[in-house]
Order: sequence, then C-alpha cells, then structure tokens
Amino acid sequence: MLRKIKDDIYSVGVIDWHRKLFDELIPLPDGTSYNSYFIQGQEKNAIIDTVEPDFDQEFLDNLEQAGVEKVDYIISNHAEQDHSGTIPVLLEKYPEAEVLCSAKAKSMLLDLLELKEDQIRVVEDGETLDLGGKTLEFIDTPWVHWPETMSTYLQEENILFPCDFFGSHLATSDLYVEDEAEVFKAAKRYYAEIMMPFRKIIKKNLAKLEDYEIDMIAPSHGPIYDNPEMILDAYHDWVSDEVKPQVIVPYVSMHGSTDDLVNYFIDSLIDEGIKVKPFNLTDVDLGDLAISLVDASTVVFGSPTVLTGPHPAAVYAAYLANVLKPKTRYASIIGSYGWAGRMTDKLLDLMPNLKVELYDPVVAKGHGADEDYQEIDRLVAEIKTDLENL
Ligand code: FEO
Repeated sequence: MLRKIKDDIYSVGVIDWHRKLFDELIPLPDGTSYNSYFIQGQEKNAIIDTVEPDFDQEFLDNLEQAGVEKVDYIISNHAEQDHSGTIPVLLEKYPEAEVLCSAKAKSMLLDLLELKEDQIRVVEDGETLDLGGKTLEFIDTPWVHWPETMSTYLQEENILFPCDFFGSHLATSDLYVEDEAEVFKAAKRYYAEIMMPFRKIIKKNLAKLEDYEIDMIAPSHGPIYDNPEMILDAYHDWVSDEVKPQVIVPYVSMHGSTDDLVNYFIDSLIDEGIKVKPFNLTDVDLGDLAISLVDASTVVFGSPTVLTGPHPAAVYAAYLANVLKPKTRYASIIGSYGWAGRMTDKLLDLMPNLKVELYDPVVAKGHGADEDYQEIDRLVAEIKTDLENL
C-alpha cells in the first residue's frame, strides 16, 4: 500500500495483520507492520528500511505504484531481517542502488544477506546526504536493540526515521497514531520485550535526540507519531530510574499450596492499599509480564519445589526477568516444598542481573502453617514500608 506522508515522501511498507510470533518467541497479539519510506529529492531518491522478505512482491508493487523507476540509495538503519531482508530483491530490481548503513551494520548485512561489499557504503554519525532539497542526516543510535542501529533524520521536514526505536508491533490501517492509548500499550510492550535490557544506552540516545527538532517520528513498526511528544515522554519515563509502587507476582502452583500462600499475600497487599498484579505462569502472555516489569517497584515470584528446584515455568519467568534487566528495586519468593529442596537459591541464581533488595523468602513445608502466614504478614509489612518511602 502506497500512502503519502508529505510531498515526495511516501510510506511504502506493508501490514502483517496475522503474524502471531516474532523470532518464534515474542507474542504479537496485534500483528505488526514493516514500514518503509520512499523519499524523492530533486536529484536523487532514497528508500529508508525495507520489509520482511515474505512481503517482497507487495513491497515492489508499492514502489511501482509510487512510480519508482530507479533507486539511488537504500538506507539500512538496522540489519535485522524484518527491515533488511528485502534489500537483495531490491538490488536485483534496482542494481544501481547503493546501500548506506553504519559500520557495524555493514558487516552484519554481509553476514546475514550475503550482499557484495561494493554494494554497501558506510555512513558516519552526523553525515548528511543531499537528495536535492531534501537532506538526510544519519544519527548513530546504537543498541535499539542491536549494536549497529542508527536513525535517519530528514532535516527540511524534521522527520525522524528511527527504525525499531519508538516502534510498536501493531497492525492498523491508521497511518498516524489515532488511538493513543492503544499505541501506548503496544509501544510499551515493544519497549519491554526488546528495548528494556538497553535502558541506560537508550537514555543516552534520547539525550542525543534532544538536539534535534522533531515534528514527526516515523518508525519501522506501527503507526507514525505526528505528535512525537507522546512517545518521547513515554520513553523518558520508561528509561528513567523511577519505579511505580506496584507488586508483580509471577507464580505457579502444582497442588494448591503455593496458590494458597500467594493468594493470601495478594489479598493482604490489597488490604494495605498496595497495587498488585499476579501472573499465573501456566497461562500467561509473557509480553504482559514484561510490560509490568518496565516500571514496577517490586517482584515476588511464587513457585513450588520440583526435584529440589523451582518449577520450570518459574525458571522461564526468572530467566526472562534476568535478561530484560528491569529497574525493579525489591524482590522476594513465596513457595512450598514436600520434603527438601533449594528452590529459592536456584531461582535467585537465575537472576544475577536484578539489582534488587531481597526480602527473606517465605517457603512452607506442604500447605502453609500459621507461622508461614505470619511470615507473609512480615513480608507485606516490609513491602509497605519501602513503598511508602519510594
Ligand atoms: Fe524490527 Fe529489530 O527488527
């Protein structure tokens, strides 16, 4: 589908309405899009990012509809295949085109797409490209979410093309953000799943972008932000060191003991006026859990003991929390065991990246006795004190 953004600037990407998983890992409840942009200058033209290779014909059709007979530059902001994968097809159709990318992206494109070295030219941070009345500036914005990523800025129109950065997995017919709440949630999910581990570097990228006047952000997934403050403010909030007073409880129970303990814990928190959100790990969208980890102050895992260790569902959640590196400040574990085990130690060993203050875990033998529930009261009191002092 060809859609005009401004004179000589077009959206030429595709919508993937039905994709359910990304990387065979990340749930996509709302599908996604692979946005690509075509910019025609008075002398030269450029395509910014391409699309997932499954959609190559639709992409070529869009370019044909735009009347593109010759392509001068293909700008590859990011080497991941959902944006770069159609470059070989483009080069077959437009062999005169030159691929422009960061130095790190060049070696990645050579590895991933088997392009020829002389088809690629490295551009430097701050370098500009004059298309004739339209000037593109390349801005290094690394680690959003691979090391080679850069953004492209159209100076005359103040449009930022940041590829994944600020994007959202959201298939919609809206070219621009219309439902801000819907896009906010999709963008937060996207940040949670792939950007959060790089929070501190993203903070630096955001600071760098403050030198630019940005009237529009055109990412390579999801709708375009014609009111960029919305997503810029959200990112500033997500990458800040501030946490929100909320207790996240990812848990699993086998015979009901952990369930009883966790439910008592949740009810006690609610009685104390503390915001709490449980996630039953046997039936969870891990993206929802990741969203909650973006700014929650506290996470308390719940797990029974299986063969001396945590339940595998809790292992998966702990591994995920560890790789996502949330800014969570406090943590603990609630659980149960039958005869012996090192469930808590093994679970904690999986999360070295969580720089948290740990409350003493509460682990009951079988279904909890009175003293176990008193321990949960102690845990709730400690959480309450810390949240009041946030
Ligand atoms: Fe949308 Fe990192 O690719």
